[in-house]
Amino acid sequence: MRAVTIREPGGPEVLTWTEVPDPEPGPGEVIIDVLASAVNRADILQRQGFYPVPPGASPYPGLECSGRIANVADDVTGWHAGQEVCALLAGGGYAERVAVPAVQLLPKPDAVTLTEAGALPEVACTVWSNMVDLARLRRGETVLIHGGGSGIGTFAIQLAKALGATVVTTARKAKHERLRELGADRTIDYTTEDFTEGTSADVILDIMGASYLASNVKALADGGRLVVIGLQGGRQAELDLGAMLGKRATVAATALRSRPVSQKATIVQGVLREVWPLIDSGTIRPVVDRTLPMSEAAEAHRVVEAGEHLGKVVLVNPAGA
Ligand SMILES: NC(=O)c1ccc[n+]([C@@H]2O[C@H](COP(=O)([O-])OP(=O)(O)OC[C@H]3O[C@@H](n4cnc5c(N)ncnc54)[C@H](OP(=O)(O)O)[C@@H]3O)[C@@H](O)[C@H]2O)c1
Repeated sequence: MRAVTIREPGGPEVLTWTEVPDPEPGPGEVIIDVLASAVNRADILQRQGFYPVPPGASPYPGLECSGRIANVADDVTGWHAGQEVCALLAGGGYAERVAVPAVQLLPKPDAVTLTEAGALPEVACTVWSNMVDLARLRRGETVLIHGGGSGIGTFAIQLAKALGATVVTTARKAKHERLRELGADRTIDYTTEDFTEGTSADVILDIMGASYLASNVKALADGGRLVVIGLQGGRQAELDLGAMLGKRATVAATALRSRPVSQKATIVQGVLREVWPLIDSGTIRPVVDRTLPMSEAAEAHRVVEAGEHLGKVVLVNPAGA
């Protein structure tokens, strides 16, 4: 089969569409003939050499995919060859075939194409596990979503809106109109505005980390929950515990990729139960900025690194699933 390999740590040009050995299903795993995968920020860090592949994971990039099941290990029940699925991966999505634990599979939702389904698992699992399961966002609350135009942000806005929350989001001005169409009640241009002004958020979904920590604490309401899922603004900063204490606030930070399969299985079950019906009904739509063949993964990375996209950049297997 062919896959996108990383020749050496570096710029987008180190990504090469090339012949590699076929994956074999381990116990509890299925093999997927991949139709689509999508670019996540972590893929760029991996390409640059800053995100070591977790032990046992595929060395190729790609944290999600869609396609058809090619075959299943003897001990797998409930899934069979030919089924259209998408999957949360620990790596290896930018490839014609991938092995994945069956517990990380999701059925293709009715309202989306199989290509679009390849852009859903990573954002759905990340956003649901952090904003809903961990931070307990409830109807009537206000959520501040940083980077509303990202793959994560476009999904989080729609899910928060569907849950009945008021949505405040930060993004460059050019993306604001589209984010309001997705359900954002208030858009803040982080390049010119102070997002703490007039903001009292019950939940903050943060992708910046250190550079936003103090402002995020300031923007939290009493009883507020800050969840950090990205460190685009650095990893170390001072936390004003006095401000946290006064507000009875909590701060948490999580990563999805390095979680054990058992935890990913629990998250996938939660997403299937609480998020999939919203996608099946068309309430939440995948936001696909553009679709490129996997052989042009370098161009896809260039687009995402430049921040030219809104939502997800999808990669398709040039040969189809
Ligand atoms: N912890 C986890 O398990 C997990 C899982 C998935 C993703 N993530 C993280 O979630 C983040 C989004 O991932 P993605 O793949 O969806 O990324 P992406 O599409 O590449 O988006 C990155 C976003 O960062 C925004 N941004 C840059 N500087 C900003 C600032 N100062 N204030 C507010 N927004 C700013 C950009 O907004 P503009 O384009 O408007 O400039 C862009 O929308 C990344 O940090 C990623 O590492 C974490």
